[in-house]
Amino acid sequence: MKPVEIAKGVYWVGAIDYDVRHFHGYSYTTHHGTTYNAYLIIGEKVALVDAVLGSFSEEMFSRISDIIDPERIDYMISNHTEMDHSGSIPDVLKTMKNAKLVCTSKAVDELKKHYPNGWDIHTVKTGDEIDLGGKTLRFYEAPMLHWPESMFTYYVEEEVLIPNDAFGQHYATERRFADEVDQYVLWKEAEKYYANILWPLSRMVQRKIEEVIELGLPIKIIAPSHGLIWRKSPLQIVTRYLEWAKGDRTQDKVVIAWDTMWQSTTKLARAIAEGISSQGLTPILRLIPHSDRSDIMAELLEARGIIVGSSTLHNDILPTVAPILSDFEVLKPKGKKAAAFGSFGWAGGAVKRIHESMERGKMEIVMDPFTVKWVPTDEELVQAYQFGVEFAKKVK
Ligand code: FEO
Repeated sequence: MKPVEIAKGVYWVGAIDYDVRHFHGYSYTTHHGTTYNAYLIIGEKVALVDAVLGSFSEEMFSRISDIIDPERIDYMISNHTEMDHSGSIPDVLKTMKNAKLVCTSKAVDELKKHYPNGWDIHTVKTGDEIDLGGKTLRFYEAPMLHWPESMFTYYVEEEVLIPNDAFGQHYATERRFADEVDQYVLWKEAEKYYANILWPLSRMVQRKIEEVIELGLPIKIIAPSHGLIWRKSPLQIVTRYLEWAKGDRTQDKVVIAWDTMWQSTTKLARAIAEGISSQGLTPILRLIPHSDRSDIMAELLEARGIIVGSSTLHNDILPTVAPILSDFEVLKPKGKKAAAFGSFGWAGGAVKRIHESMERGKMEIVMDPFTVKWVPTDEELVQAYQFGVEFAKKVK
């Protein structure tokens, strides 16, 4: 349980959670676990920037103790109240009796509601600084990245940005730096993290990034609160966030996600996929009950569009499709091109319901739904193929 010095006088003292498989309830699967990153900055005074999930306090203390007596800590900086970063703050403040808790004014009520306490709280706003004795911490409020009270901490002398949830990935490993790990997994996890946490906040992400760029802050290291630390070309993740926020980054692929009762909708999905493929785009086929909702949203982030299908059951969608529609409504993949398809017996309510959710998610429905009664005929399969061709032409 060794700490890692990530810059002069800055130590990663967080915790590695190899076992967690679900985040935010069951809305997000963490196939590679996660880390809760906390950073110890040592000057004449000592600051701990962020803490870890409560059940990992011991692991964090063990790393801190390897460097200093934890009682020496003067400041507990809370960039974000969510419990994966604040859960061990009560343990920290019990140990560090003289430590001041530093946060934004918006965090005060949140912290009090999470942890009823009589802590000595010192609030900061954008531009405020704390002098650790030759080492300066400067703060930037970052509302909604990820909660209203969120802020970034910037360690001026070593040019280290500690932006909490922004630029993270759920990726547990013994390595600490982004350039030390499998790049495919790293970027897939960064993409999934953006799609499932930050997508609905894209406007604020873009604004905050542009604001930081305008400030001209030199940045040598970006040390997020989850996953790997960016030290080689750290701005690559900033650039990628801007592309995702603007919807500028797409690949030649279309997601087809569906569920079926008696295989009619599956036959349609495959015919549509062939139509899409014929136009040079790659169809990504996801039978919803065999897939994971957060993986589908991650695939969608860089896709040209999505086509969702369902058999009709009780004049509605199959219930397995509901989580995807819920994700459309809350994650709001704004402007993403979309269409619906499905099969039915006597009433075809499924496609109507799919369209309603796409509209609520501000997606761009580019075609009328394609529906088939009972089992598709050969002629209807040709029409489904053509549906795929037309969709591909509209999203290319
Ligand atoms: Fe990693 Fe919003 O907490």
